[in-house]
Amino acid sequence: MNQGKNHPQGFTHMNREYTVAIAGATGAVGEELIQLLDERNFPVKELRLLASARSAGKTLTFRGKDITIQELTHESFSGVDIALFSAGGSIALEYAPSAAAAGAVVIDNSSAFRIDPDVPLVVPEINPDAAKAPKKGIIANPNCTTIVSLMALAPLHREFGLKSIIASSYQAVSGSGVEGIIELDEQVSAITKGEPIVSKVYPRQIAFNVIPQVDVFDEGDYTKEELKMLNESRKILGIPELEVTCTCVRVPVHRSHSVSISAAFEKPITPDTARAAIAGNPGIQVVDDPQKALFPVPLDTTGQDDCLVGRIRQDKVLPNALALWVVGDQVRKGAALNAVQIAELIASNKD
Ligand code: A2P
Repeated sequence: MNQGKNHPQGFTHMNREYTVAIAGATGAVGEELIQLLDERNFPVKELRLLASARSAGKTLTFRGKDITIQELTHESFSGVDIALFSAGGSIALEYAPSAAAAGAVVIDNSSAFRIDPDVPLVVPEINPDAAKAPKKGIIANPNCTTIVSLMALAPLHREFGLKSIIASSYQAVSGSGVEGIIELDEQVSAITKGEPIVSKVYPRQIAFNVIPQVDVFDEGDYTKEELKMLNESRKILGIPELEVTCTCVRVPVHRSHSVSISAAFEKPITPDTARAAIAGNPGIQVVDDPQKALFPVPLDTTGQDDCLVGRIRQDKVLPNALALWVVGDQVRKGAALNAVQIAELIASNKD
């Protein structure tokens, strides 16, 4: 049951075309970026595909044409208008400034620049104006779990004033790249054959298990992923005093993250007023008829643009609070789609 919808955009209002580079083109997010630029009719004049020396010379297809992958260097960005980075934090720190210096607007999917006050952190449905005139020529794409959660919470914040979030995430193995999927599948296969289990990507067995650790541990025994929910939600929503407690959990699901949230607000809120506030907002749909087993599950959003929210109930502990369940494809809205939507914003701002 695929309830989400994809929205090929069609940039008919734009009267120019852009030279676009993808740094990390061979990765899971890189490949999704290539597909989305095509699907959403992004006006591409030239697509430059960049990766490590290991991939240089291989080809990938865009709009029916083979493009030869080039090795990423500091000289890769001459003539580039928009540089989409999905090669990790250290690569972004090293090469994004060169891309910006060459005149490109960089959209970086890593956490390297997200908390830099001079780098906008943008979810186009939530804070599009932040993408205008980025001081350093760099715009950061937020963390996937944060994007999925805020797609449901931002419309509620606009009407009821968000005060605090208590959340637990259920994060798919594709969040760890292709290796995460392979490790889950190999462990399932080993178990069925009675062979020994090998764990390389995760600290514990992921098959038929859940692991309450995503990313490394940091301040106060929270993981970096959990602290991203706090810091990035504050920045995107513009609520410096927002309180967030989060437990991020890896689950044996291939794709799409789910988040269970208790959110407290300044103003009184009910499930009905919440559903009405969310309805009609782009990128988020309410799927909430539990008696008919209508609630979002990861398979519903896999490969889909929209995030889905359901199980909306009054929170029984906190005043003015709701419990809810939101699900979204973390490779798509949580990464590549959000980045392409930012590129669309830049293109409309430059128009
Ligand atoms: P490559 O395939 O050549 O290693 P993922 O996050 O899915 O693992 O993808 C990481 C992406 O970052 C890949 O496209 C990978 O290219 C790229 N990458 C990794 N290391 C480098 C590097 N040193 N220089 C350029 N690209 C890199």
